[in-house]
Amino acid sequence: MSTAAINPKGPRVYAAGNTPAAWASTYLTSTVGQKILVGTTGLLLVGFLIGHMIGNLKVFSGPESLNRYAYFLKHDIGALLWIARAGLLALFVTHVVLALYLKRKAAVARPVGYHKYRTAQASLPSKTMLWTGLVTLAFTVFHLAHYTFGWAHGATLADGTVVNYLDLPYTLADGTVVHDVYRMVLAGFGTPWISALYVVCQLLLFIHLGHGIQSALQTLGLVGKRFTPAAKALGWAVAGTIFVGNLAIVVAVWAGYVK
Ligand code: HEM
Repeated sequence: MSTAAINPKGPRVYAAGNTPAAWASTYLTSTVGQKILVGTTGLLLVGFLIGHMIGNLKVFSGPESLNRYAYFLKHDIGALLWIARAGLLALFVTHVVLALYLKRKAAVARPVGYHKYRTAQASLPSKTMLWTGLVTLAFTVFHLAHYTFGWAHGATLADGTVVNYLDLPYTLADGTVVHDVYRMVLAGFGTPWISALYVVCQLLLFIHLGHGIQSALQTLGLVGKRFTPAAKALGWAVAGTIFVGNLAIVVAVWAGYVK
């Protein structure tokens, strides 16, 4: 149904209550609209995770490469950094709040639950989306406290003194003194309990993404005999790539391959 009448001599004329704002409000309060928003914000967050993983893999190219890259992101892109951070936060908040809201709406609509749960249709990853999602949220908060704010753990220097992660300097080949992100990552994953925590959280993130990606693609219309298996395969392939990439960093530092 058209939302506007076209006036041949002027701008679009909207019938009362049929404006784009009214359409957006109806869309945002409908279950279908909210599911589409959860799916699209989720897919955009996956985009961030892929970029973040590729950047972090620079740890395998040595301190100069990782520290130069981190310095570029934090100092050379100016206001773009804050725009990207604000966008990322908005994506996280929209995704989490709407997913929790939809879960609550479904629980209110069916307070008693199914007499017989059809396990053939609901896989374990799909039944545990809420929990794997909440652990990922908690992990993200810990991860920010750990690496972005340096609150969770200190780095031990050769003489035994413990310093804040953010007070580790590194001198680039051109003489610029920057934050030593490389040594910070080594200090983090060189600590067994931190590595173990990351491994468990990456595994739960893998399960969340594996199901989440295919579910988002299906919400966006990728359904049918050919598309449903393709969405499933793509979901697990992307989730698997992020899992292996992130795990490689943790294990390489833990095992002493990256020093
Ligand atoms: C083993 C895998 C990971 C490693 C090695 C890693 C490493 C890092 C490091 C070193 C920083 C701080 C960068 C700096 O201060 O210069 C950071 C920031 C961040 N990480 Fe990760 N990360 C990993 C996985 C993840 C995952 C799975 C998520 C999300 C679920 C995530 C989300 C973030 C966010 C949101 C930031 C803040 C970005 C900003 O400062 O704007 N990271 N990560």
